[in-house]
Amino acid sequence: MARKFFVGGNWKCNGTSEEVKKIVSILNDGKVASADVVDVVVSPPFVFLPLVKSSLRPEFHVAAQNCWVKKGGAYTGEISAEMLVNLDVPWVILGHSERRLLLSESNEFVGDKVAYALSKGLKVIACVGETLEQRESGATMDVVAAQTKAIAERISDWTNVVVAYEPVWAIGTGKVATPAQAQEVHSELRKWLQTNVSAEVAASTRIIYGGSVSGANCKELAAQPDVDGFLVGGASLKPEFVDIINAAT
Ligand code: G3P
Repeated sequence: MARKFFVGGNWKCNGTSEEVKKIVSILNDGKVASADVVDVVVSPPFVFLPLVKSSLRPEFHVAAQNCWVKKGGAYTGEISAEMLVNLDVPWVILGHSERRLLLSESNEFVGDKVAYALSKGLKVIACVGETLEQRESGATMDVVAAQTKAIAERISDWTNVVVAYEPVWAIGTGKVATPAQAQEVHSELRKWLQTNVSAEVAASTRIIYGGSVSGANCKELAAQPDVDGFLVGGASLKPEFVDIINAAT
């Protein structure tokens, strides 16, 4: 089954309104593959979502970088899935390693978030990935499988899920996974989906790679059969993000 390429840009906790406008204009002016070939979703901080959504080229979409695990209410500082739907923000990133590690988001908590966001009609980029210590101890697939299992136990429809494999040791470090390392985990993850969910979900679910993706390394990574795109951090704030969007062409 052909899986449409997917490129996400995770701007993390960065930007001023001036900088955001500059990034948007670079994206709007970029010569990119058509929306038939690649899905492009950029994820600014919450406060810039309306600005980006209202000024970004129409074939690109926006994502929030997180949302709360249940209906809104007395949860100071949280943003609910309902609010994102109300703002017509179609995507949300959930389970990013920076939230799993810095805010102690457990596999179960992330699984609950994914289920709730999907139930409200959002599309989800669900992040999984191991730390350097876990990789060096040979636990990569155990960790990634447990993270994915916590999601699989809570959802039945994967149509609106993109899985992002982001090895923690490659995030923000400049130490990108080799194409072989990325392909190995993506392929194992796809086999896990085949065994534990269904052949159809395994074949159709996009598994994208994140962790020091750049204009220089994206083509080789994109050439891997089970790498269906990217979730890009630092480079999504730079003009080279246009090259990454075109990596599969
Ligand atoms: O969510 C994507 C991010 O974690 C990757 O960051 O800067 O290594 O591309 P970066």
